[in-house]
Amino acid sequence: PVNQPWSQRFETALNPAIARFNASIGFDIHLIEYDLTGSQAHAQMLAKVGIISAEEGEQLVKGLEQIRQEYRDGYFTPGLEAEDVHFAVERRLTELIGDTGKKLHTARSRNDQVATDVRLYLRDQIQKIQADLRVWQATLVAKAEQHIDTMIPGYTHLQRAQPVCLAHHLLAYFEMAQRDWQRLTEVYSRVNICPLGSGALAGTPFPIDRHYSAALLEFSAPGNNSLDGVSDRDFAVEFLCAASLIMVHLSRLSEEVILWSSQEFSFVSLSDRVSTGSSIMPQKKNPDVPELVRGKTGRVFGHLQAMLTLLKGLPLAYNKDMQEDKEAIFDAVITVRSCLEAMTVLIAEGIEFQPTRLTSAVAEDFSNATDVADYLAAKGVPFREAYNLVGKLVKTCTSEGILLKDLSLERWKSFHPKFEDDIFAAIAPTQVVAVRNSYGGTGFDQVRLQLEAAKKALQS
Ligand code: ARG
Repeated sequence: PVNQPWSQRFETALNPAIARFNASIGFDIHLIEYDLTGSQAHAQMLAKVGIISAEEGEQLVKGLEQIRQEYRDGYFTPGLEAEDVHFAVERRLTELIGDTGKKLHTARSRNDQVATDVRLYLRDQIQKIQADLRVWQATLVAKAEQHIDTMIPGYTHLQRAQPVCLAHHLLAYFEMAQRDWQRLTEVYSRVNICPLGSGALAGTPFPIDRHYSAALLEFSAPGNNSLDGVSDRDFAVEFLCAASLIMVHLSRLSEEVILWSSQEFSFVSLSDRVSTGSSIMPQKKNPDVPELVRGKTGRVFGHLQAMLTLLKGLPLAYNKDMQEDKEAIFDAVITVRSCLEAMTVLIAEGIEFQPTRLTSAVAEDFSNATDVADYLAAKGVPFREAYNLVGKLVKTCTSEGILLKDLSLERWKSFHPKFEDDIFAAIAPTQVVAVRNSYGGTGFDQVRLQLEAAKKALQS
């Protein structure tokens, strides 16, 4: 039978199935370095206020450091008997330094300890994801830079709408990533509050200095309310929400890449470095990377939903339900980071836009129809009147199987006397894109400005 720190109060050992069911060591071992750091700060605080002696404080800090080394060297591999990472560390510490190890848990509970660990972990991971986002953004900018002069059909309802500059399209994803980055900064500010010293739920009679331990751990402040300190997982929900939005953005681009690489679109070809084949159809080259990103989006959403559901019925303060927070957070972190990495590789070296195909695509539709209406409106024809007239024009062309550019000047004039021979230039795709120079628009000059702004944002 396993001897737990709490075993004295019990008559019999845990049923082995229940021991397995209850244990979190299988996954919370990932928190170990944060747990050690948190415990070191706690020990220093205990020594500083005189709850333990200075030598005891030092012994604890050193012993914890030794466990860190053992863990890194692969020698510290606690099993089920430990229940969770917190007990595993305390037990090993006592083995290493003797009775002083038993003083570490003075004025502390696993409840404030685990809340602190998760926050320390998330703080680190948020910074890593933000760094990943920066690499992702730089990749989008580099790709956009290669395609300032490339045009691509722009869609609404997945129907051809107006042609756009390809760089503009790519920079739209830069903006999304920029918001994702900012959102994480905001989430970080709420993650960065220290629950350590909340105790089990009610605080502690010991004269602890929560400001001191919070400062040692570089938190911006200790939390204001001990009950809230051990119960709050809002920060985890917010993180999962930010993670979900990152996935939404990656998934939308993934969907586009999948469409673009289909034979029907043929806007891009995917390199052999990022594509896979079929076991039966010899001709196949499949866009597995964007498909997997699109698929993995669902599991991150699932974690967000799980976390919300986990919390909604919980009375204050700590409940064991909350042990379920960890796998959701860990998996979301791993998923988001691996998807950002894969998409970065995909865009950096896996995708080649097909300029010839794109050039003909933007020339062979009615996506210049708005420009015909704009042409007349600029000459004083009320826009709605011009719009209706162009509608008729499109209907006529469609029935004849021709495009607007195929109409002769005489026919243009027969529709409206204000058409002159500059109409041909006005509806050429390059012109249609170039004139949309309103702030944030797709005009080539605007996009150049946007590109410069994006680069500047990356430098700051
Ligand atoms: N393994 C637990 C968790 O992850 C640690 C906190 C346990 N606290 C308790 N009172 N049982 O939530």
